Parts: sequence; structure tokens; C-alpha cells
Amino acid sequence: MKITQSTLQKMYVNKEKISALTCYDASFATLLENVGIDILLVGDSLGNVLQGADTTLSVTLKDAIYHTRCVANGSSKALIMVDMPFGTFQITPENAFKNAAQLMAAGAEIVKIEGGRIMAKTVEFLSQRGIPVCSHIGLMPQSVHQLGGYTVQGKTVRQAKQLLEDAVLLEEAGASMLLMELIPSLLAKKITERLSIPTIGIGAGINCSAQILVLYDMLGISTNKEKRFIKNFMIGANSIQNAVKNYIDEVKAGEFPGPEHEF
Ligand code: KIV
Repeated sequence: MKITQSTLQKMYVNKEKISALTCYDASFATLLENVGIDILLVGDSLGNVLQGADTTLSVTLKDAIYHTRCVANGSSKALIMVDMPFGTFQITPENAFKNAAQLMAAGAEIVKIEGGRIMAKTVEFLSQRGIPVCSHIGLMPQSVHQLGGYTVQGKTVRQAKQLLEDAVLLEEAGASMLLMELIPSLLAKKITERLSIPTIGIGAGINCSAQILVLYDMLGISTNKEKRFIKNFMIGANSIQNAVKNYIDEVKAGEFPGPEHEF
């Protein structure tokens, strides 16, 4: 059965955990959804894991469109979420719409936009015009130079308050989902409890509505192996399919991430 926004909303209401992984090509799209993944994210992490760049900043709209088409060609069940690359959504809401529309035409079913309250107008503009948006707060890789590295966000009382306010404003603006990256698990819990849209966590603890990892990280083939929030699911699995199945099973059972993966 095809997973849509309303399927995810039902899962959220029924407190069923949602599973997500990044995906950049047709073969993996088919494999991942045949094992039962709910969301495929065409992440701009493709800049790191496919293109070998140090950051996601060099990923272009053309790259994102190309990989969205590849994933869409291999997918018939999972919801396809696509990252809006750096520079494609920050200028004006109208410009963001024009670029997001190209991603939707290539097969995206929801776009992901990094940024807190500063992006609220854009989230509102897109969502009122038929483009569902997942907002992304906490560690925002596209802002790595401003943040000073890939570090845990929201550790001070002031930062935590700001992130909670951002989350509420983005939901009010029309965000359909909220991704939280590298924030303390207690803060992610508080935000999840405060919102009435599903939250997706990466390095944000067990209390989010959904979990996501970069595919190449959970298969143990990226250079990110040492990061605390990552688990290599290939260990003990005899195939990629089994590794992905174990990931989905652990997410659904509320076993991943464990306390050892949290901040
Ligand atoms: O591009 C990406 O892989 C992401 C992660 C947070 C999953 O945005």
C-alpha cells in the first residue's frame, strides 16, 4: 500500500513509530521499501556519501532533481521526501516555491527545509500552495560554517527555549513534519509532546515519532562510523535486506536509538 501524508498521520495518531532512511537511487529505493521502510529521504547528504564532499553545500537543485527521479523510478510504496539544497529556498518564498515545484515534478512528495522561525513564511507559502514541508531544526548541516561544526544543539536553556519556540512556529506555519538533528533527547521529547505533527529524530533520542539515519552510515560504509548516534546494522546481519529489516524492527519496537546513542 502506498504511504501518504495521511498514512503517516494515522500512524502518528496510533503512536506507531515511523521508519525512515536516506536513499539516492532506484535499486536501493526498491530494496528499502520491499523490506518495509516508510519514508525515503533524498537527502543532501548525497553531497557527502555519493559526491565525497566535506559538506552538503555543493549539492545543486539539478543534483537533487536527478536523484529524486532515480528514487521515484524505483519506488511505489514509501513516501518520498526531498531536501531542498542550500541556496534554493532562502531568497524568497516565491523562489523557494519555484524550486520546490521542480522537485515535486521529479517525484518528491514532501520537501525538507532547514531552518527555524526564519523559514516560517516560506513554510507557510509552500504548504498553502500544495507542497507539504518537513522543517529541519537543531544541527542544520547547511549552516555548518555558522554553527562552527557538527555539534549537538540546544544544550543551554536559552537555545532549548528557542528551538521549542521554532518548532511551534513552524507547525503553526503549516509544516507537516519536523526533523530534529543532534539535540538532547529530553528536549526532543518535550518538542514531540508539544506538537501535533510527527517528529523525526536523528541523534535526538527515542521519543520522536520517527527515526532516520543516513543509509550509508547504518550500513557501515561511510566515514561517520564513530559518531555516537549511528548504529551499524550490518554487524550481525548476513545481507543488506536483513540489516535494514533489523533497523526497521528496532525503530518500530522503540529499541533504536538506545541510551548509548542519545545526548
Ligand atoms: O541529508 C540528510 O541525510 C539529512 C539527515 C538529517 C537525515 O538531512
